[in-house]
Amino acid sequence: MKAYLILLGAPGAGKGTVAKRLVDKNGWIQISTGDMLREEIAKQSPLGLEAKNYMDQGNLVPDDLIIKMLKTHLEHGENGVLLDGFPRTEAQAIALDAIFFEMGVSLDSVVNLLVPEELLLARLGGRLVCKECKASFHKLFSPPKEVGVCDHCGGTLYQRSDDNPESIQQRLKVYHASTKPLIDFYKDKSLLFEIDGSRDAEEVYFDIITLLEKRGNNA
Ligand code: AP5
Repeated sequence: MKAYLILLGAPGAGKGTVAKRLVDKNGWIQISTGDMLREEIAKQSPLGLEAKNYMDQGNLVPDDLIIKMLKTHLEHGENGVLLDGFPRTEAQAIALDAIFFEMGVSLDSVVNLLVPEELLLARLGGRLVCKECKASFHKLFSPPKEVGVCDHCGGTLYQRSDDNPESIQQRLKVYHASTKPLIDFYKDKSLLFEIDGSRDAEEVYFDIITLLEKRGNNA
């Protein structure tokens, strides 16, 4: 049960939501650069302090900082890795190839989650995240049983500081300029697969697992 997989998609496409299901069921490690950066911010580390301004404004954190942070986390990826939110630029994609080469592994598939923009806006505008276990909820689409409390661990739910209308618009702009070109980058390598991410999270999960099985991964 081994796979090296990238989830691509615009902010709010559901990468984090489906990534959690995939790693829980398959024992891979999840590399979410956004979650890692938010942990650095919470610790008030030098990296966190530097990253916070970029993130709050909806801009990307510089490639060199991200690549350095990623390398230390990939050390434990011998059973499989799910990358969610990385790479986001061509420079990051090229750096990832070099890191995987050093690890002696190669990328299996890149899944691009397709979601129309009005649904992205609705998802981001209503998202709630658990401070403790990072589980995602939504005020309308998947509300917690008790207002403000995580169903899984009882942690407090909060709204991300970059889930405000101005930052969301900037994140979408940055996505189109810097990350969307990766679709063609991976198409050219015959690694790209597109999945309709506008459906129920369980259906999206099922499609990804079916895809991996067809491609020869024992997911
Ligand atoms: P990051 O945390 O990665 O944010 P993002 O890419 O903007 O993606 P999101 O987390 O907003 O969306 P998602 O696709 O994971 O959706 P989710 O599953 O939560 O990055 C934040 C910032 O960090 C960046 O802007 C940048 O500054 C910096 N950064 C991170 N990585 C970087 C990198 N590599 N390089 C440089 N900078 C970097 O779902 C959203 C909502 O929709 C939730 O409420 C969820 O419950 C709901 N939902 C999800 N799926 C469904 C579904 N199928 N049906 C109904 N509701 C759903």
